Amino acid sequence: MGTSFKLGIVGGAGWLGGAIAGASLEAGILHAADLALSYRSVKPDRFPGAFWTDDNQALADRSDVIMLSVRPQDWPSLSIDAKGKLVISVMAGIRLAEIGEKHGTRRVVRTLPNAAAEVAKSYTPWIASSDATETDRAIVRAIFDACGVQDEVATERDIDYLTGLTGSGPAFPALLADAMMREAIAFGLAPDVARRAVNTVLTGTGRLLELNDASPADTVKAFLDYRGTTAAAIETMRKAGFDEAVAKGLAAAFEKSIAMGKA
Ligand SMILES: NC(=O)c1ccc[n+]([C@@H]2O[C@H](COP(=O)([O-])OP(=O)(O)OC[C@H]3O[C@@H](n4cnc5c(N)ncnc54)[C@H](OP(=O)(O)O)[C@@H]3O)[C@@H](O)[C@H]2O)c1
Repeated sequence: MGTSFKLGIVGGAGWLGGAIAGASLEAGILHAADLALSYRSVKPDRFPGAFWTDDNQALADRSDVIMLSVRPQDWPSLSIDAKGKLVISVMAGIRLAEIGEKHGTRRVVRTLPNAAAEVAKSYTPWIASSDATETDRAIVRAIFDACGVQDEVATERDIDYLTGLTGSGPAFPALLADAMMREAIAFGLAPDVARRAVNTVLTGTGRLLELNDASPADTVKAFLDYRGTTAAAIETMRKAGFDEAVAKGLAAAFEKSIAMGKA
């Protein structure tokens, strides 16, 4: 991306804000001197050369792009006049129109990264207000390409759905891994062997799916067609309600995401 910009991350001391800052610097889309971050309680000792402040308006005034990365419950008390600048939110639940109205701008982008931004493997859906420019969109793509993979989606409802599917997403394979590991330990495997075994299975599956953007359904079918131990396990898990449990969990996350925006 040819455009240079100054980024200010409100809540940059937090988990996601710090991960996005780190990934952006690592990818070279930003120099530390063009990065400002705000904190509330403790000033972190990270990102040498970047500007740290506890004054959010000072951060906004020195930035071209303002990223909101506080928890949704902390957003109502946040007082920042963005003065028409691009505002990018990573907050779950808060809608484009509300963000624009509160911060005095019509150039707003709502995104929903996930915890894997920390290792530059986030999936980040986003949607822009109609006043956001092509340059604004290019900046959003650059930031979230640095954090992993991004997609512009059609509606805010898609973002609400993806808040569960991918925002919470890294938790679900971890949940499966935890269940597998507890079974393995109950069987009698040494815990450190069980952990290495299960974690390696998970990262290996990720790499297999990444290869040629493989379809998960094709991957499962290939295992089923092999008619071995894997097919026996998959069929038994499905009979025990695996697919229904996933569907119900995702529906609960979707409902929670909508409710958070109304709270
Ligand atoms: N973590 C994820 O995987 C994930 C995924 C998708 C979306 N999100 C969204 O990302 C946002 C941040 O989440 P997080 O996980 O990074 O939470 P977090 O670790 O709690 O970070 C939020 C940070 O904001 C700071 N803060 C709160 N009010 C502030 C203010 N007025 N001025 C300056 N800093 C302020 C907090 O400071 P104190 O510690 O001093 O309170 C904290 O450091 C949330 O809206 C969440 O919905 C997170």
